[in-house]
Amino acid sequence: MKNKIETHYGSDDLLEKIRKGLEKAGKNPDKLELKDLAVIDQLHTGGHLASLMLAEKANIDQSMEILDAGCGIGGTSRLLSKEFKCRATGIDLVSKFIDAAEFLTKSTGMEKNNKFFQMSIFETSFADNSFDCIWCQHILMNIKEKESAFSEFKRLLKPGGVLVLHEVIKGENKNENIHLPVPWADRPSLSFLISQKEMNALADDAGFESQFNQDQTEEAKIWWNKIKSVTEKAAGKTRPLGPHIIFGENGKFFSRTMTANLNENMIKVMAAVYCNT
Ligand SMILES: C[S@@+](CC[C@H](N)C(=O)[O-])C[C@H]1O[C@@H](n2cnc3c(N)ncnc32)[C@H](O)[C@@H]1O
Repeated sequence: MKNKIETHYGSDDLLEKIRKGLEKAGKNPDKLELKDLAVIDQLHTGGHLASLMLAEKANIDQSMEILDAGCGIGGTSRLLSKEFKCRATGIDLVSKFIDAAEFLTKSTGMEKNNKFFQMSIFETSFADNSFDCIWCQHILMNIKEKESAFSEFKRLLKPGGVLVLHEVIKGENKNENIHLPVPWADRPSLSFLISQKEMNALADDAGFESQFNQDQTEEAKIWWNKIKSVTEKAAGKTRPLGPHIIFGENGKFFSRTMTANLNENMIKVMAAVYCNT
């Protein structure tokens, strides 16, 4: 599994591409502000606004130790620690993402509160009860063994801690052949979608109590439609910064496949906060 995931996400020369893209956009790659990175470091539907809404629902504050599980290039870890002064540890399977996360964190001067490690969520080196919050944003789509993921989250969370989920889930359309490529998969064998009901049942079985639960499909449609019209307007021209930096050629198709999947009810988007009782 690790190799297939690395192949999908592990863009060659990622750091070099990020540096060059930033330079072309008129930025100094060694001295950046978070807003310079928003186009490339938020690898989820709704961008940073979606994360800030969830952070409010989860009552994130400066006392908290957060695990950003499947952190990508660390966008949400940096956003949370900047906004709430909390500490965030990001882990991801893909070593190139971790290298990029460390580089961008240094460039934004945020190393004090942000640490990154190349690790699977199933093989972390963290002790029981290590975190106040586990932040799980657009990662479970890649994970078949969701029951084990929930029990690992339970082990890592302190009593009273919160599990935040922002995930793409299965829609009501019985056809399971979603339009590909999507940001989490370029082939069916990387995509493991389940329904909101199934997700809630897994959380419940693992001993979590639901604190907030929302279907965000309509918001997701608006967001992806916006991206689609920006992409279509820019047809033929490659912007210096965009999903192509992270996902290569596949990135060009996402707005089309995601709007089709949402409109045909193949996928939905959910947001939830569960408490570790
Ligand atoms: C769509 S990206 C989302 C990244 C990030 N959460 C964000 O919203 O910007 C999904 C990420 O999950 C990571 N991932 C998938 N399975 C994982 C696992 N078992 N352990 C750690 N990371 C994993 C992938 O490598 C990828 O970086």
